[in-house]
Amino acid sequence: MKSTDSRPISHIAEGAFLFEGANSTMQIVETIVAMRRARKNLTEPVGFVATMGFFHEGHLSLVRKARAENSSVVVSIFVNPAQFGPTEDFKTYPRDLPRDLSLLEKERTDVVFMPPVAEMYPAGFNSWVDIDGVTERLEGASRPGHFRGVATVVNKLFHIIQPDIAYFGQKDAQQALVVKKMVRELNMGLKIVTLPTVRESDGLAISSRNACLNSDERKAAPVLYRSLWLARELWSHGEKDAEKIRQQIWELIEGEPLAEIDYVSIADPETLEEMDTVRPPALISLAVKIGKTRLIDNVVVG
Ligand code: PAJ
Repeated sequence: MKSTDSRPISHIAEGAFLFEGANSTMQIVETIVAMRRARKNLTEPVGFVATMGFFHEGHLSLVRKARAENSSVVVSIFVNPAQFGPTEDFKTYPRDLPRDLSLLEKERTDVVFMPPVAEMYPAGFNSWVDIDGVTERLEGASRPGHFRGVATVVNKLFHIIQPDIAYFGQKDAQQALVVKKMVRELNMGLKIVTLPTVRESDGLAISSRNACLNSDERKAAPVLYRSLWLARELWSHGEKDAEKIRQQIWELIEGEPLAEIDYVSIADPETLEEMDTVRPPALISLAVKIGKTRLIDNVVVG
């Protein structure tokens, strides 16, 4: 990272910087060694939010909760190449570091960990975390290798940062499930908290990828939430046949010319097995392409 006169950032040690803002003084660290050093001086409990940056209100809701519940807050910004498929948007994934840092300073973050790719995946890197079962469905079925990349990077981040509590968004329900399973089954000894999906006023789940939508696509995108809303209504009015609800979702989304459905699922929130009869709690989730942009959303009923 370069320190410039226009930014209140000074170099303090190898791979470590200080951001002195109006609200707080925040450490920015780029190396694992500097992160471990910073961690030793943090008062516990330490709350942690893993992100790929380009912050929006969804990310900030996690940071605020971490701030409210912990003595120290660490946030990572790392666009993780291992979780993107070869035809996915790793190179064009939106980034805005100066804005992200100033937002984190406003939320009184203590440490930002933002390693370069070679720091996390040095040449010859060959250790991967594979979680079977729940990773084979939904996002895992559509994006082979995605959860291997997520589990591996989150595992590394947990080892490097050693948080007491880590916060994840319900927006990525399957990701939160995979992380919880990994932490439980590999005895990682920290608590995972899942927080509700933050939405725009028209119901669209906030996502970094919403920035990729043109104005017509943006108008079409709330069809995801409308269809989930419809599903919930059908269920609360007594419809228990999962296939009928799936069909209603399909029909509503197919009425939107810019939308192309990847999957519509009504599944057990723990095993992700598809349901025939909707027995609460049920996770209703979908992935839909709006133009070239793939969006996901979900609600839990019951
Ligand atoms: P990213 O997409 O940046 O999301 C970081 C965290 O913000 C995730 O826990 C995600 O579920 C949460 N989030 C995103 N949109 C949200 C919304 N509208 N409401 C509430 N929470 C929301 O998810 C990742 O990064 C990566 O896979 C990561 C876990 C960092 C591993 O690389």
